[in-house]
Amino acid sequence: MMDRVGELTAIIESHRCYSHPIFMNWAKVRPAPPVIGALFHQIQCFCAATRPGWSFPKSLYELGSAEQAKLLQEIVESEEDHGPELAAMAGHIVNRAAGEIVFRDLGNQEKVETGLKSFSDGLLSQLPGYDQETGLTVQARKAIGVFERRKQAGRDDTLRNLGAALALEVISNRHLIPGEKHCLVDAGHYGASLDEPEMHYLLEHWGEVGAESQHERNAIDAVNQSLNDEDRPLIVEGIYEFLDSLCALWDVLDTALLQSGIAESQLPDSRRPAGQAA
Ligand SMILES: [Fe+2]
Ligand SMILES: [Fe+2]
Repeated sequence: MMDRVGELTAIIESHRCYSHPIFMNWAKVRPAPPVIGALFHQIQCFCAATRPGWSFPKSLYELGSAEQAKLLQEIVESEEDHGPELAAMAGHIVNRAAGEIVFRDLGNQEKVETGLKSFSDGLLSQLPGYDQETGLTVQARKAIGVFERRKQAGRDDTLRNLGAALALEVISNRHLIPGEKHCLVDAGHYGASLDEPEMHYLLEHWGEVGAESQHERNAIDAVNQSLNDEDRPLIVEGIYEFLDSLCALWDVLDTALLQSGIAESQLPDSRRPAGQAA
């Protein structure tokens, strides 16, 4: 018989988000540098929102157990410095795709992220509800909003946050990070390898000894301690909120990616001009 947390991971595994084709399509379409920059802007902003713990570990401590709070706090601490490394990797991949230097200083997180946003504005700003200031799609804002709830204390929100944390870590470990490795490294389009310092983000996150694998174990252990019949519905609610919102973001980015592939194939010389300098 499946254990109770196994039932929850089965929900995640059977959701469309878990096997979303976006990274497979990225590898197939070989998007132009501005498209890569736009996708990375949305992904980067989403990932950044998932890192801070806000009140969540403390609320778990108050409502659940010290052990649950510790497991979540460990995840939060392990995520602390990942923003600069994700920006460096994104800039590096755009440079490689362009075959020239688009981002000169990959260590300058702010400058790289500003450049990624301008690519996003160029590709996605026509979408209904696109926010010009942040450069975020409606779908990215909704996915980010799930993590804003970590600022709330209280039992119901804390249990929903626990469900969202479980879904986040399972998806990161088994879909998002492997998906990035597939399209950025294994597909061979960018001559990128995990040994390169610019790709350290992926090295750190990927595989059985990677950060996400540890996060998944922590999240499963934390959820396990709350799984009574009373708590379960709110945990499941949090799982679906995360999966549905991320899936909607993947859908809109996947569509933009595929459309850019069609546009590209219609150009006489299937190489598009390199992106604007950041
Ligand atoms: Fe991370
Ligand atoms: Fe994680």
